[in-house]
Amino acid sequence: MEHKLEELKKDALQAVKAAKDKLHLEEVANKLLGRKQGELTILLKGLKDLSDEMRKSAGQLANEVKQTIEEAINVKRNTFEAEEMKTRLVEEKIDISVPALPKKTRGHLHPNTIVQRDLEDLFSSMGFTVLDGPELESDYYNFTALNIPETHPARDMQDTFYIKGHANWVMRTHTSPMQVRAMQKYGAPLRVVVLGKCFRNEATDVRHEHTFYQMEGLVVDENITFSHLKGVLEIVAKHLYGDDTQVRLRPKFYPFVEPGVNGEVTCFTCQGKGCRLCKNSGWLEIFGAGLVHPNVLKEGGIDPEKYQGFAFGFGLTRLAMLQYGIDDIRLLESGNLSFLEQF
Ligand code: DAH
Repeated sequence: MEHKLEELKKDALQAVKAAKDKLHLEEVANKLLGRKQGELTILLKGLKDLSDEMRKSAGQLANEVKQTIEEAINVKRNTFEAEEMKTRLVEEKIDISVPALPKKTRGHLHPNTIVQRDLEDLFSSMGFTVLDGPELESDYYNFTALNIPETHPARDMQDTFYIKGHANWVMRTHTSPMQVRAMQKYGAPLRVVVLGKCFRNEATDVRHEHTFYQMEGLVVDENITFSHLKGVLEIVAKHLYGDDTQVRLRPKFYPFVEPGVNGEVTCFTCQGKGCRLCKNSGWLEIFGAGLVHPNVLKEGGIDPEKYQGFAFGFGLTRLAMLQYGIDDIRLLESGNLSFLEQF
């Protein structure tokens, strides 16, 4: 028995010494001291079969061996833990003298997009559907379907970019072509807005640009009157410029509406008193509107005897310019960062 204990001690100390890492060490510890199958545990269990005298001396030795092994394991365990701590400290070290990372610059919305989204939200809340439309449009939808026949002088007011070799296609001059497209696709009743880019062949200056944004609105239903149109326009005006804003409608010719009006709102900088922005008139011209011409309803496949409609067109670019005090329209499409970064 005593011999066996000495042998075990020798082997055990060697095994502990040879353990490569913590896991390995725990395996060795378990093999020796495990409560059921541990080698030393089994030996100790054998003590009870010895004579009293032998048990006494063997018992003493067994305890010593156990202590020595346990101690060796503990020492080894501590060395592993110290090493572990050391590598963790190295890994987690923060060098506070390293210069900060360069600040990440985030993009942001273009002023036109801010104005566009604001109005999309407003009209969605009133039950309008927001539609998109083609920027390259057929001559038919851009002009003819809107009661502007080929020889009509109204075409001259909206000179555009024609497509070489495709005489029937134009870059749309307004968002109005979507009126007939929407009527043909969805029929009546109808409540839509269309927001997007339009193009005109302009000699550009601070007030004219070849590319700009518009918002078109169209409502078709039974018993539509001019007061429905005015009601909606007043909601837009108050939303944009506050509850005291008033709307003024004055007759103006647009081929696709009858009657047609030119819409103004009280100037938000001078509250109608007159200032530089409104050229001392007290009013800002921001939209065109009217009751949809029966010919346009017919083109849309809608019976003008049964249904009426109203339509309006806002210059979104103009709204953005007014809102942000931008005095040169060309800046908006310039891609000039020192301009854009202000928003
Ligand atoms: N399409 C017109 C333009 O670009 C604006 C307009 C006027 C739209 C009257 C309308 C309207 O829907 O009824 O000048």
